[in-house]
Amino acid sequence: MNRVDGGTIPAATPAAQGYGAAAKGLHWLVVLLVLVEYIVAILMPDIGPRTQPGPLIDLHFSFGVVIVLVMAVRLFARLAAPVALDMPDAPAWERRSASLTHVLFYVLLIVAPFLGWASASAHSLPVSVFGLVPLPAIAAPRARWALVAGDIHKVAMWATLALIGLHALAALYHHFVRHDRVLLRMLPERRQGSSAKRERTLCERSAAPGSGGDAATREFDREGRGSGVP
Ligand code: HEM
Ligand code: HEM
Repeated sequence: MNRVDGGTIPAATPAAQGYGAAAKGLHWLVVLLVLVEYIVAILMPDIGPRTQPGPLIDLHFSFGVVIVLVMAVRLFARLAAPVALDMPDAPAWERRSASLTHVLFYVLLIVAPFLGWASASAHSLPVSVFGLVPLPAIAAPRARWALVAGDIHKVAMWATLALIGLHALAALYHHFVRHDRVLLRMLPERRQGSSAKRERTLCERSAAPGSGGDAATREFDREGRGSGVP
């Protein structure tokens, strides 16, 4: 059995050491979609008993459904091809919080939107994807449970934003303070290429006679060590 993201997966699916282009592309696509979703959530009118459908509310529902779909694709891809955390020297609490954060993102961004959908139905607001794909109501008008679900949706989504803030700060901390490869492994190959070139230069410098190789080797060692983003 292999350990991946703090969890155990069958030996038949060995964990890859890095993220593929599709995984990276989908990660940054979700970042963009979620950013737009929060801006729309802030701008859209408060939803209450007399709220009428409107463009911002429609956009909120549409982007929300698209986020669920993209996250579901990511989840299937992730389960089919697990990626190991690259953090051999990080303390256990850091590994665990990185794994937990990743799991929470999948749970929150796939499950919590359905609570918003229930609230939309309870407020008799139609849900569709950009007016092209109408979706059914999942709760009766004014259903008590669905109104409560709407309150939970709000709290869960603001909590998700706080988690995103922590996750992004952790990535930046690893890059600018710890100087490791954690952020780079989620960036396109081109950016990784320039880093690899730098590592090669450090190796060459450390190999050159009388070049102060020890210092360069130490820097290379530090850069090569990975860690996780909570
Ligand atoms: C990941 C996707 C989503 C995010 C990040 C998100 C975020 C938010 C946020 C932050 C609020 C609170 C706005 C405020 O405080 O005024 C909100 C409210 C709401 N959202 Fe979403 N949402 C998402 C998906 C959805 C979906 C898919 C639907 C419906 C199909 C939906 C329906 C609603 C409704 C009805 C409310 C008002 C809830 C109430 O007051 O009872 N949301 N959303
Ligand atoms: C909506 C916002 C975000 C969400 C939902 C999100 C979600 C995730 C998830 C689920 C993973 C685990 C890998 C996977 O399953 O594909 C991950 C990894 C990662 N994220 Fe994010 N992320 C967000 C924003 C950011 C931002 C703004 C940054 C950088 C500033 C960032 C940097 C990273 C890095 C570097 C990793 C790789 C960690 C590792 O495995 O070592 N993410 N993210």
